[in-house]
Amino acid sequence: MWVEKYRPVKLDEIVNQAHVVAGLKELIKAPSEMPHLLFAGPPGTGKTTAALCVARAVLKDYWRDYTLELNASDERGIQTVRERIKIFASYSVGAAGVPFRIIILDEADEMTNDAQTALRRIMEESSRICRFILICNYSSGIIEPIQSRTAIFRFQRLEEGDVVNHLAYICKSEGIKNFKENALALIYKISNGDLRYAINILQTAAATGEISVENVERVAGISNKALVADIVARALNGDFNAAREKMLELTKVYGMSEQDFLKYAFEEINRLNPPNLDKIAESIAKYDYRIIVGANPDIQLTALLAELVQLGKDLAQQGKKGK
Ligand SMILES: Nc1ncnc2c1ncn2[C@@H]1O[C@H](COP(=O)(O)OP(=O)(O)O)[C@@H](O)[C@H]1O
Ligand SMILES: [Mg+2]
Repeated sequence: MWVEKYRPVKLDEIVNQAHVVAGLKELIKAPSEMPHLLFAGPPGTGKTTAALCVARAVLKDYWRDYTLELNASDERGIQTVRERIKIFASYSVGAAGVPFRIIILDEADEMTNDAQTALRRIMEESSRICRFILICNYSSGIIEPIQSRTAIFRFQRLEEGDVVNHLAYICKSEGIKNFKENALALIYKISNGDLRYAINILQTAAATGEISVENVERVAGISNKALVADIVARALNGDFNAAREKMLELTKVYGMSEQDFLKYAFEEINRLNPPNLDKIAESIAKYDYRIIVGANPDIQLTALLAELVQLGKDLAQQGKKGK
């Protein structure tokens, strides 16, 4: 995976995020005084990368053993944090020169307020032996008492020049000579400043042909199609919330147009070929029309997903009757 291969290991290698990098470099000059940190910003902009860079810089050779990466949105998140810290605390002395352990808690804004309150207590009780780096998309999802006890760093979507330069650098490192600048610009446009997504498109394009506009369009189309197919499958399985969340991510975060979403959804439903295909085709046409004439696309696509949930139920019912 190129996203891992080209993940920066030093703060200085991070693309842009200049004020974040400058602030962090300042903080780690005196590691023992480093506060807890809160990284906020859109996906694929370097938050996890920066957290790992800080861990490397502060803990040096010991960083692997003294860094814990957890996902807070995992249900057992807070439980795990508590248990791990107990284990940390039971070590009498750390390795020479290791001032504390670092706990990187991703998706911290997905935690309930209760869990965050518990986390805040844990942060205070363990501050002698642990520093937390909390990562979130929106700092507003973090309770105020935690915000006020952390140094907050805001990551920005990367700009076209940064993304294109970085992709060109990867192409050169991979020995790809005839990549097209306009193809890289298109990748930037599709990825909307998410460097993880951009690198993934680049790698897929390189694996299946050249880095040209046509191939990038094809590759992005394929992967977008697969993403929409997944959303359709979720809706048909009755998982409305997940389907809606992923639909919003695709259209809002990744910038897929609502019309493309409908097109891919229709292709997928066609492929599945359910008994009442005619009815679904009709309703997709209806939503397509409404979006074209300017209806709120979120509401329209959400209504479509709700119809698919109902369709899934009907199909399951018919299946039962058939048996
Ligand atoms: N600012 C950046 N500089 C260099 N690479 C980046 C940057 N942001 C993202 N990347 C690339 O994308 C991948 C994912 O980045 P990550 O730090 O995990 O993003 P997130 O902000 O979602 O935590 C990295 O492995 C790296 O290849
Ligand atoms: Mg991350």
